[in-house]
Amino acid sequence: MISGIITNGINGVPKVPGDKSISHRSIIIPSISNGVCEINNILKSEDVLHTLSAFKTMGVKIEEYENKIIIQGKGLNSLSAPKNEMYLGNSGTSARLLTGLLSSQKFNSVLTGDKSLSSRPMKRISDPLSRMNAKIKTNNGFLPILIESSNLKPINFDLEIPSAQIKSGLLLAALNTKGETNITETKITRDHTEIMLESFGANIDIQKIDNKKLIKIIGQKELLSNNIDVPNDLSSSAFFIVSALINKNSNITLKNINNNPTRNGIILALKKMGANIKLINNRTSNNENVCDIEVSSSNLHGCELGPEFADLMIDEYPILSIAASFADSPSIFRGLKELRVKESDRLKLILLNLQNCGVNCKSENNDLFIYPKDNYHIKNNFIQTDFDHRIAMAFCVMGTKIGPLNIKDAKSIDTSFPTFIGEFNNIGGKIF
Ligand code: S3P
Repeated sequence: MISGIITNGINGVPKVPGDKSISHRSIIIPSISNGVCEINNILKSEDVLHTLSAFKTMGVKIEEYENKIIIQGKGLNSLSAPKNEMYLGNSGTSARLLTGLLSSQKFNSVLTGDKSLSSRPMKRISDPLSRMNAKIKTNNGFLPILIESSNLKPINFDLEIPSAQIKSGLLLAALNTKGETNITETKITRDHTEIMLESFGANIDIQKIDNKKLIKIIGQKELLSNNIDVPNDLSSSAFFIVSALINKNSNITLKNINNNPTRNGIILALKKMGANIKLINNRTSNNENVCDIEVSSSNLHGCELGPEFADLMIDEYPILSIAASFADSPSIFRGLKELRVKESDRLKLILLNLQNCGVNCKSENNDLFIYPKDNYHIKNNFIQTDFDHRIAMAFCVMGTKIGPLNIKDAKSIDTSFPTFIGEFNNIGGKIF
């Protein structure tokens, strides 16, 4: 796929799809609740469709009606044994959350994934689950995973790796486990699971003490379904936001965007860089913060972000690095270790591809340094993505300034944002 230079800015009101994290949870939690759930605006991307088909395989009735997904919940302990392995494609969220949930079910199951997912660490979820007495066999810490039926016991767990996927996997295991599980979080991770579990009536209590968050969950209480309106995805919006910022004569509005404070670091970081971004019509929907976002072309300045930003915006460093490449001074982004275990080694690919685009950058101890210039001379216009959707979309945005760039394996974009190319071209992008 080729991404070319744009000359007249990007303008309009692009449609951003439903939030990926909330969409996964909108299938998982209603499936194990009682009652019927109508979901509006769910993201129909490959990752989410893999979660959906896993629950269909486990006997949950899921139908589509007038653009809504209708789920007839089966209750905490009534999923059926899947006849085959469940293939989760590229989706780390499906893999970690399902490993937790399935550990507490009364049947055995096997989870598999594509090449990228099969190289991502699973011990981070299987180890704490084993402490709960789960019987999990991994392939040396990777997929495929075999989960055998077992009676779980509750644990007290300090979430040392700042990962909402680990936390959510444990919460889903604890939901169906007799007794009280306590999870202590010292670094912020996205809290969509807690928000949804609370509104579905789980016995969950959350307290903030000093800089820690304590989550207490008492298991085996049945959940009651609610309807869900999935807000649009801030992570997907970020590609349009940065394109508008770095291209002259741009003005865009993004509607109904999730602005959850555990996840909105990209807005804070870009504002720190001098971005013209306005959040308007702030409101809540299903206890999630939602707003509209207005963005216009800006003169960006470099900035230094400490590791606490990584907790609030881990998925946004590929696109933030593109913004930093067009600032008027250098940037340093610290504490990016977790970037190495995403859909690709994102730190490696950001460096490799920026350098091929002529950007002077380096990493030291997982800190990223970017030294922008006024003009870039492309050294190699092949963008290596290792089938990582966010690397592909970030370098499409790079292409708008210095293109043409040839983005390899761009099909990965379908894992999170299948309508990206059409929406981008509608507002002035040149992708073909
Ligand atoms: C996600 C959590 C994050 C994020 C991923 C989605 C989720 O991963 O990178 O894209 O839906 O819980 P970690 O929790 O492993 O950091």
